[in-house]
Amino acid sequence: MKRLDHVAIDGPAASGKTTAARLVAHRLGFVYLDTGAMYRALAYLALVSETDLDNERALVRLSKAHPIRVELDQTAGGAQRIFAGDHELTDRLSSSAVTAVVSTVAAHPLVREAMVREQRRIADDAPVVMAGRDIGTVVLPQAPHKVFLTASVDARVQRRGAEMEAAGVDVSERRLREEIDERDRLDQSRATSPLRPAADAIVIDSTHLTADEVADRIASIVNSPSSG
Ligand code: CDP
Repeated sequence: MKRLDHVAIDGPAASGKTTAARLVAHRLGFVYLDTGAMYRALAYLALVSETDLDNERALVRLSKAHPIRVELDQTAGGAQRIFAGDHELTDRLSSSAVTAVVSTVAAHPLVREAMVREQRRIADDAPVVMAGRDIGTVVLPQAPHKVFLTASVDARVQRRGAEMEAAGVDVSERRLREEIDERDRLDQSRATSPLRPAADAIVIDSTHLTADEVADRIASIVNSPSSG
């Protein structure tokens, strides 16, 4: 893998990684990749095809039959689009049904292997700000800039609630809290590539920061002479 000027952003559910990645990419003129959307795409395919979520081989077969492809917008800060085969899934991925099963799908080692291969291929082509759970630890361990973005559970519940409301989806705060807690538990406790900060990641607690302030901090880490 070429050593490009990549930025890895990892962190728990709804910690603001995608927004931060998009803003930072825009400032730096990099592309961004939200890797969670790739796992969500496979979770969506599994739901519509009624594939057993515990059947690792069946999930891999599904991803081979409908290859998950990301189209990055090469203009700075542009939005990514996700396809399975020829079908665009971009707008289908944030439903509660997909969110409820994605961590089960993402826990399978062979599923992760296929996703990581594609993520590294993308990173080989251009400087990228990549957001996920295992970017600094597994996908791009050589990335010169690594951030672990956290926020209190309350702040994360509030943010996800506001996003859902803006999308016209009615979910109770209690339900959102349970969903976030459960996903964090599964992501942190899985055997393969569990969610944890890389040893050389800088931890940013965004509980009291706006998205722009988070992006400022990350951009200043990238631009600091001692970084990388
Ligand atoms: O945006 P949000 O924090 O809700 O989650 P996401 O980034 O869309 O990721 C959805 C799920 O995909 C996570 O809860 C993980 O189970 C999985 N995931 C992963 O295992 N590895 C990644 N690099 C990204 C996501």
